[in-house]
Amino acid sequence: MLDLLNYKPEKEFSQKHLLRLSDYTPDEILQVLSLALKLKKQMKEGLRPPLLAGKILAMIFTKSSTRTRVSFEAGIYQLGGTAQFLSGSDIQLGRGEPISDTAKVLSRMVDGIMIRTFKQSDVEDLAKFGTIPVINGLTDLLHPCQILADLLTYYEYKGSFSGKLAFIGDGNNVANSLLVGCGKLGLDMTLACPEGFEPDAEVLAAAQEAAAQSGAKLIITHDPKEAAENADAIYTDVWASMGQEAEAQEKYKHFTAYQVNEELTSLCRKDYIFLHCLPAHRGEEVTPGIIDGSHSVVFDEAENRLHAQKAVMVLLMQDKKP
Ligand code: CP
Ligand code: NVA
Repeated sequence: MLDLLNYKPEKEFSQKHLLRLSDYTPDEILQVLSLALKLKKQMKEGLRPPLLAGKILAMIFTKSSTRTRVSFEAGIYQLGGTAQFLSGSDIQLGRGEPISDTAKVLSRMVDGIMIRTFKQSDVEDLAKFGTIPVINGLTDLLHPCQILADLLTYYEYKGSFSGKLAFIGDGNNVANSLLVGCGKLGLDMTLACPEGFEPDAEVLAAAQEAAAQSGAKLIITHDPKEAAENADAIYTDVWASMGQEAEAQEKYKHFTAYQVNEELTSLCRKDYIFLHCLPAHRGEEVTPGIIDGSHSVVFDEAENRLHAQKAVMVLLMQDKKP
């Protein structure tokens, strides 16, 4: 049985950024999750160790956010540091200043950057041209911070990373990163999506490569029932992601058979948990009875964004011992 709280690292954590989960070894992911559990436990005991005293996190947002913004900002304050909220439309980046210049300037002033934006390549360019840690707070392609919180939540409820997770819906940023996270930690995952809405092929290949090491079975199907059958966890996300508002109505037509509802969850294991990264659209991808029902753990999952990201910030931004 995995004792995540007392997890003993195989190697020293040596990542500089969190750009994509596929860059991390299973050991590094477990280190993040273990520290997240410790920080969570300490916080519940009233302890807020100032592990990032005086550190400054710049947070660039070119898309909306509730959870990501609040959890990073609250998280760095709790660790003794401070955050700067930089809206894409207020900073010069929004008026065409290159990402490379932004990276160089911020690197001379702050200790880390969290960015939520459209293009994955912009996140990677920030890391390439800057000299400080960069954290991916969601792109069109990936959402690694979300998946760290999801894995933590799964562990808290199931006590391990074995079993089966079903993802029902769009093969989007959350689905992509979830495939990688499950592949890395050995959790079986079956993703059911409509034809034409499959996860990204390159990300899936990276996830399958990780799964070949961990033993996880990753399956892509168009049959939601196949995915839900005997699942320990069932997960869904919105049918139209940020930036897809114009095509949302057209897109929805393909998704009506992919709602997580009472009929579909009746196929899951009796003690299944329901996960959703939020924000949710009740009556679309999930019924109110399921998201507000007794199997739903979506608010624990949302809370775990805070603990998981505090762990990420500590591991990336804390001064290394000389
Ligand atoms: N799940 C998530 O990333 O939520 P926000 O869009 O509110 O940050
Ligand atoms: N797939 C969603 C996730 C929101 C947290 C989006 O990109 O809008």
